[in-house]
Amino acid sequence: MATDQPAENTYLLDSESPTEMARLIHLDRFITKGMGGVLVGIADPKLFHDVLDLGCGPGGWVLDTAFTYPHMEVAGVDISRIMVDYANARARTQQLTNASFGVMNIAEPLDFPDASFDLVNARFLFGVLPRDSWGSFIAECTRILRPGGVLRLTELVEMGMSSSPALEQLCEVCCQALWRVGYGFSPNGRTLGMTHTIPWMMRHAGYTHMQQALHALEYSADCEAWADIYRNTEIAYIQSKPFIIKSGAISEEEYEQIYQQTLIEMHAPDFRGMWHYMTFWGNRPAASPES
Ligand SMILES: C[S@@+](CC[C@H](N)C(=O)[O-])C[C@H]1O[C@@H](n2cnc3c(N)ncnc32)[C@H](O)[C@@H]1O
Repeated sequence: MATDQPAENTYLLDSESPTEMARLIHLDRFITKGMGGVLVGIADPKLFHDVLDLGCGPGGWVLDTAFTYPHMEVAGVDISRIMVDYANARARTQQLTNASFGVMNIAEPLDFPDASFDLVNARFLFGVLPRDSWGSFIAECTRILRPGGVLRLTELVEMGMSSSPALEQLCEVCCQALWRVGYGFSPNGRTLGMTHTIPWMMRHAGYTHMQQALHALEYSADCEAWADIYRNTEIAYIQSKPFIIKSGAISEEEYEQIYQQTLIEMHAPDFRGMWHYMTFWGNRPAASPES
């Protein structure tokens, strides 16, 4: 597995930022909980031995999978050196000898031999891979999967739906900025534009037995997830500010104003909100589609 820091980083946030790492450590916990576990919907996880997580961040999904399924060898790769070091340290302290991590740029050809995994997982790559990279990314996943192996992709449906006008505006501006800089498959930047296109791309890459699961996480003022998503919103929109302003979707003054207003409105006792995200999975074709 590659260990050197790759030259080009397509992530729209700063992947070497400790603040971003802390956000992702926390995000992983409530997202996996909201999904009902690491491999929800998979009928027989015992069939998987070699498992890979692409863009694994600080490694939560890999560590939970390695702990839950000790018969698996679970690897995670990420472009971030600090996240990979943290994840390897956690694997050591938890004595998870079946979990390992390395630095790799997943926007480039993957540094793994053909047919080396039974399951390839990736979660929340909407701000990682530009829309033009998705075709080659799925082709690379197909190449490294064994025939019949499973590709499993999880993405947000929208940036969050809520009763806060400011938060709605912030989400809208973020979708618009992502679209302007070349991410997501929305025709106009109104949405993130991922979940309507992923199953189509997978079927067209030859994947069979496609399945999907919708996850809904309520974060209204009286819900447990409110504090989690408030904290995530507070940090994510500071981290996102540079690329959003640079995209020209909004001025810095206006952004600052709606950001502060969002934090106020999220504290309202009648604040209501819901996150939706979806997982898609299917089996790699027995032979690669072009062969
Ligand atoms: C939104 S986070 C998702 C983290 C994790 N998959 C999860 O669900 O908690 C995106 C991750 O992709 C990583 N990343 C960004 N660009 C990358 C690239 N070109 N190659 C590999 N990893 C990348 C970031 O460092 C970050 O950890």
